[in-house]
Amino acid sequence: MMLVYTPSSPRALRLLLLLLLAAWKAGSGQVHYSVPEEAKHGTFVGRIAQDLGLELAELVPRLFRVASKGHGDLLEVNLQNGILFVNSRIDREELCGRSAECSIHLEVIVDRPLQVFHVEVEVKDINDNPPVFSVSEQKLSIPESRLLDSRFPLEGASDADVGENAVLTYRLSPNEFFILDIINRKDKAKTPVLVLGKMLDREENPQLQLLLTATDGGKPEYTGSVTLLILVLDANDNAPIFDRSVYEVKMYENSANQTLVIWLNASDADEGVNKEMIYSFSSLVPSSTRRKFLMNEKTGEIRVNDAIDFEDSNTYEIHVDVTDKGNPPMVGHCTVLVEVLDENDNSPEVVITSLALPVREDAQVGSVIALISVSDRDSGANGQVTCTLTPRVPFKLVSTFKNYYSLVLDSALDRESVSDYALVVTARDAGSPSLSATASVSVEVADVNDNAPAFAQPEYTVFVKENNPPGCHIFTVSARDADAQENALVSYSLVERRVGERALSSYVSVHAESGKVYALQPLDHEELELLQFQVSARDAGVPPLGSNVTLQVFVLDENDNAPALLPRPGTGGGGGGGGGAVSELVSRSVGAGHVVAKVRAVDADSGYNAWLSYELQPAAGGARSPFRVALYTGEISTTRTLDEADSPRQRLLVLVKDHGEPALTATATVLLSLVESGQAPKASSRVLAGAAGAETALVDVNVYLIIAICAVSSLLVLTLLLYTALRCSAPPAEGACAPGKPTLVCSSAVGSWSYSQQRRQRCAPRRARPRPTSWPSAPAFLRVLDL
Ligand SMILES: *[C@@H]1O[C@H](CO)[C@@H](O)[C@H](O)[C@H]1NC(C)=O
Ligand SMILES: *[C@@H]1O[C@H](CO)[C@@H](O)[C@H](O)[C@H]1NC(C)=O
Ligand SMILES: *[C@@H]1O[C@H](CO)[C@@H](O)[C@H](O)[C@H]1NC(C)=O
Repeated sequence: MMLVYTPSSPRALRLLLLLLLAAWKAGSGQVHYSVPEEAKHGTFVGRIAQDLGLELAELVPRLFRVASKGHGDLLEVNLQNGILFVNSRIDREELCGRSAECSIHLEVIVDRPLQVFHVEVEVKDINDNPPVFSVSEQKLSIPESRLLDSRFPLEGASDADVGENAVLTYRLSPNEFFILDIINRKDKAKTPVLVLGKMLDREENPQLQLLLTATDGGKPEYTGSVTLLILVLDANDNAPIFDRSVYEVKMYENSANQTLVIWLNASDADEGVNKEMIYSFSSLVPSSTRRKFLMNEKTGEIRVNDAIDFEDSNTYEIHVDVTDKGNPPMVGHCTVLVEVLDENDNSPEVVITSLALPVREDAQVGSVIALISVSDRDSGANGQVTCTLTPRVPFKLVSTFKNYYSLVLDSALDRESVSDYALVVTARDAGSPSLSATASVSVEVADVNDNAPAFAQPEYTVFVKENNPPGCHIFTVSARDADAQENALVSYSLVERRVGERALSSYVSVHAESGKVYALQPLDHEELELLQFQVSARDAGVPPLGSNVTLQVFVLDENDNAPALLPRPGTGGGGGGGGGAVSELVSRSVGAGHVVAKVRAVDADSGYNAWLSYELQPAAGGARSPFRVALYTGEISTTRTLDEADSPRQRLLVLVKDHGEPALTATATVLLSLVESGQAPKASSRVLAGAAGAETALVDVNVYLIIAICAVSSLLVLTLLLYTALRCSAPPAEGACAPGKPTLVCSSAVGSWSYSQQRRQRCAPRRARPRPTSWPSAPAFLRVLDL
């Protein structure tokens, strides 16, 4: 069909269009209606009969019927009025799903003539479906480490409606981390996308709950929502940390092994392996410190693992690393400052640094003998040392400087009283309990020649018998010197002097070393009774010191001189005793007891040895002699009156004997001529008288001698007692040639003597030692006194 369009007027145009439409309708046989879904039963759809050009009346006869393929009886036609209406609920979404066009195709069939009409009933959408999310909760796991603007597409909602009703807009609940972005897809659908607008932090917000709401474009609008559960996954973004960067710990030295020093607790905000930590010493920790401490890498306990000695090191700086097991791992640090406290575990040490030994005994007070230094490795009071010295020594400690002392002489020394000192220096610290140490110093005192040799007595008395053999040892002097070595080496010498014509050294000598005194030649009592001299002792010190001792050597008498007869006074003849005869004239008239003659003799010896006794030798014929001789005076007297029977010439032999042992004798011959009375020549008488005078003198001498002996003996006994008392304890002087112990008895007041002497061997060495009581025999002493 061709349409020629001639625009004349609008009304004409509309008419034309209508005609065209009708023509098309008729031609295609199609009628178009539309009905909203979900319309109620009976909702008018269209006047289908009319629209198909059918008369109402003919509907029934022509068997008007509607057929719908597969859609049943959604729509019905009222045959009375030819109206198509909604029969049952029409759900567009059920019919057509999500297709934009949705229509129900109806075939309208009439018979007589059979005609088929196609009717399209468009089902129009209404907003009857809300947007729907497939799940009510959507979980997202997002690592906290995701960067900003990271995108996380979400599953969108779906809306069963179409068109505007299915146009969805999304909305996200307010939050600080995410913003919503919408991606418009080609199919008009939209995909919501979460965009990270702020860094996540698991440690702050381990999970987020957001609400995503979808709203469709219908009127009224419907909404649907989904919960977005966002799990923030941990990233190892937190280093382990200690609550302090520096820990200060104090501990005593010598702590037991495995003592806990500190228990470190690091924390890590991360989780899982990211918060599993390993403790370790930092590489900064020197190996010396590592040896001392043990780190438990799991628990963070630091324990002692070796001896902790304050004196080695009093602080330790331990840098500790703690590393988590994340990837990459993160490390935290701290420093443990261990302050080691001192314990008094070190004894003081005493060092004697220099010694000026030995010390001379004449050293000045204040002389420094040694330097002493003390030390203590501890600190504080534990290291404060005080030094003390053995008490009661002549030394003292002088502190020169902190912990330095001088050992100084405090008072004068005397080697002879104390020759060495064992000093002990004690150093004691002020710890509690305190420790101490000692050092010994042996101070030897060096000798100085300050002592002269000393004899036990200032004077010794020695008795030597005369006629000693030459070189006889008579005495030993001995001096002691309190000094040492050469200062005590004593040598003896004689202090020379003259003895009469001769030098002392011709009599005696002294052995320089032994101090033995020798008599060089036989001594003669008759010549020299007392030899007094000095022996000097000198030591070998520089300068030498010396002292003198006096020796009194008494030469004891021996009976070495026989009695000597004296010539009659007036005869002037020599004293030869032996054959010298005395002639006397004796008057026959003399009575008994008349002294007619006297034998005179002397003895060069002394004492008993010089004490003479006289006795008459019996006459050869055995005739009784009318004479006798007085035992001690030598006076010859008559025993009876003479008579004619007596021979005119009488020859008497008088034995003169001394009292020595053995006694020595001399024999005097006395010739007596008996004359008648008055016949006695004047000369003779004169001679006799003279002789009598001499005799009287001799008798006097003898009496004096006896008196003197007795007096001296008494004196001697007294002196002996005194002497014994004084010298009782004194060491005996030695004299090898000294006589044996004499015994002295004074028996009568008249002066009768008896003297006996126990003879010992001569010159018996070490034998005869004179006791304090050993004194020369009284006569000898008398002679000495006479001098
Ligand atoms: C670490 O934890 C232990 C056990 O709880 C505790 O005894 C110790 O004192 C802690 N260490 C520090 C330095 O706080
Ligand atoms: C301390 O104990 C540990 C473990 O028992 C040991 O290895 C170490 O030798 C000990 N240290 C000392 C000084 O005894
Ligand atoms: C010893 O005697 C001698 C001689 O008499 C004398 O020179 C000397 O000084 C005396 N020595 C002493 C220590 O008295």
